[in-house]
Amino acid sequence: MSTELITRPSLRAAELRSAGLDQAIAADPGSFRVLTGDRPTGPLHVGHYFGTLQNRVRLQDAGVQMIVLIADYQALTDRSSSDTLPADVLGLVADYLAAGLDPDRATIFAHSQVPALNQLLLPFLSLVSVAEVGRNPTVKEETAAAGQAGLNALMFSYPVHQAADILSCRANLVPVGQDQLPHLELTRVIARRFNERYSPAEPFFAEPAALLSSAPLLLGLDGRKMSKSRGNAIAIGATADETARLIARAKTDSERSVSYEPARRPELANLLLLAGLCLDQPPEDIASAADGNGAAGLKAIVTEAVNARFAAIRSRRAELAADRGYLRQVLLAGNEKARATAAGTLDAVQRLMHTAY
Ligand code: TRP
Repeated sequence: MSTELITRPSLRAAELRSAGLDQAIAADPGSFRVLTGDRPTGPLHVGHYFGTLQNRVRLQDAGVQMIVLIADYQALTDRSSSDTLPADVLGLVADYLAAGLDPDRATIFAHSQVPALNQLLLPFLSLVSVAEVGRNPTVKEETAAAGQAGLNALMFSYPVHQAADILSCRANLVPVGQDQLPHLELTRVIARRFNERYSPAEPFFAEPAALLSSAPLLLGLDGRKMSKSRGNAIAIGATADETARLIARAKTDSERSVSYEPARRPELANLLLLAGLCLDQPPEDIASAADGNGAAGLKAIVTEAVNARFAAIRSRRAELAADRGYLRQVLLAGNEKARATAAGTLDAVQRLMHTAY
């Protein structure tokens, strides 16, 4: 997804707000309510782990209220078949729990199971113009790819739906990557307009803040964006052998030396970064340790680093995956909690909008 429409000043502003937020979170974690989530389109990979999952667990452990959404309706924006959803949804629950989310503290739910959340989409649609939604970079890109006539209307309204996800939970903090910033900006606009129009004396919705990820971006093993559909990603739940096979096929260059030069040698730098993240070491140190043994030597180090780092997570994930009943139970309990929260929000919204009869 593109970031073309995020202007530098607004990106900078988001970065500054994020930096200040870290201190505020440390001072009073309980006052923060996080909503974040994923589309159930397949197993999460190590890029997700270092990019977002680890941070969710860190926030949860710090005492922040953590709500994780499985955006199953959003998975239908760009695919027509849904028969893999049940397995993909439970797969996400397994990934979350294996990574350290704790169902006693975090709420994990699927938004299709929360009627009041989805109903909020309607009043929210009345607060934005078609042109505004059309300017959203993701919507714009999808429109360019599918053509106006080929774009389904759920895809068109998806940033507004995301506002319903966030505001139905009354979240005030949303950890996101840069590509999601325009969605969050729209959520803030919707919150502001709702307050101005229906609750001017006392704002009802907090304008949620973006918490930008500070994790360096991991590329796929071919040097392109890491994505399960490209076959260039190591799933969190991959076996040690699968991991070794994937890394053996990873793209490198023809130089014999090993050095960390992201601009000049991006594929090699990405392998060094992956090993560095797994071993909690700077990638430059991995490069010095691996220099002299060529790409094959480096790949052995990276494979061992990934397999060691994920061994415990993987064995926990395998246990969880074997117990679908438990995974469903976690999801049903989360759905229940999200339903209660969203119903409370919708009630208040209807009262404020004069649609409670
Ligand atoms: N759009 C997000 C993605 O593609 C997933 C998502 C849906 C989300 N609703 C959300 C993320 C609300 C944060 C908050 O990854």
